[in-house]
Amino acid sequence: MTHKIAVLAGDGIGPEIVEQALRVLHALGLSIQVEQALVGGAAYDEHGHPLPAQTLELAKSSHAILFGAVGDWKYDKLPREHRPEQAILGLRKALGLFANLRPAILYPELANASSLKPEVVAGLDILILRELTGDIYFGQPRGVRTAVDGSFIGEREGFDTMRYAETEIRRIAHLGFQTAKKRRSKLCSVDKANVLETSQFWRDIVIDVAKDYPEVELSHMYVDNAAMQLVRAPKEFDVIVTGNLFGDILSDEAAMLTGSIGMLPSASLNESGQGLYEPSHGSAPDIAGQGIANPLATMLSAAMMLRYSLNEDGAADRIESAVRQVLAQGLRTADIFEAGTTKVSTAQMGDAVLQALSKV
Ligand code: NAI
Ligand code: MG
Repeated sequence: MTHKIAVLAGDGIGPEIVEQALRVLHALGLSIQVEQALVGGAAYDEHGHPLPAQTLELAKSSHAILFGAVGDWKYDKLPREHRPEQAILGLRKALGLFANLRPAILYPELANASSLKPEVVAGLDILILRELTGDIYFGQPRGVRTAVDGSFIGEREGFDTMRYAETEIRRIAHLGFQTAKKRRSKLCSVDKANVLETSQFWRDIVIDVAKDYPEVELSHMYVDNAAMQLVRAPKEFDVIVTGNLFGDILSDEAAMLTGSIGMLPSASLNESGQGLYEPSHGSAPDIAGQGIANPLATMLSAAMMLRYSLNEDGAADRIESAVRQVLAQGLRTADIFEAGTTKVSTAQMGDAVLQALSKV
């Protein structure tokens, strides 16, 4: 089967890092059909919209989307609906991308990049699964109103609604168990069930879904404790599944454990397994055009794409071991460079991964 991939490189370093990831994808010997389209600021400049209709159509008709990054300071004054970042929100919504997978991996060679002690984080390999389309970020009603109850009657108040439908909890829980099964079979569901009704309901449903996965070890943790455990003993986790709000915060915390934003991939999936794959970092306008950006997060995102949308686990493994090899060889882009290693450019990193790939 030919895999149809939409490639949306975007702005800033986006085109530079995506170019290297494409070289790697093409070297795998798979049947891949790649089609590129403009997104973000680049699309706004050309078509007056960050997510033009033809880009959205391409994304919808593809098995997976490889996304670079969007955004630049020069668009800061545009009205919100024309900002580059709106393209991601538009894609999430149009494709129903309800699940965000963010691995936090710290390769042993990069343990010094973390601000935590090497023994706490070296070899870290955990995955945060964040529900992406529900929770207090989207719950209605919301707004500013005049308070009619409590001790603030007559005052203005801001309010939002935390809510999760049973089907929303079930589908993210199923994905959590399935993802854990492919890894070390440990799933930790994070909530605030001691205080929030939504969370107690979440916990009840997760426990019910667990009956389908007796081989996965399920635990529950309150979000405040999870925030602590992530810095105290992060390697105790395998997969964490949580709602949109808690996941937003915990996934950023987990990313910082590794200290190398240029290394972290991400995936956003919908119910039919279609996905958007992008590095966790942004468009890095401060280093764009210099040929020094780290392309590894984008290559690792391509590996996730192979694993989660295209059912090509073997090819995903090959990319990941090639990345491990170039790190073991001591090659580093500027963002992860340290004394005793060899500094390379974006393209040289691509060359090295291609070389390593030919041997795995
Ligand atoms: P950023 O992640 O783009 O950059 C933060 C810092 O990390 C910068 O110093 C940058 O040079 C460095 N960095 C990031 N990726 C790197 C890489 N691959 N190699 C080497 N160094 C790297 O975040 P920032 O500066 O807050 O945002 C810049 C723009 O990106 C903004 O317009 C923002 O809205 C957008 N953005 C886009 C995202 C996306 O496309 N999904 C996500 C986050 C931000
Ligand atoms: Mg965030």
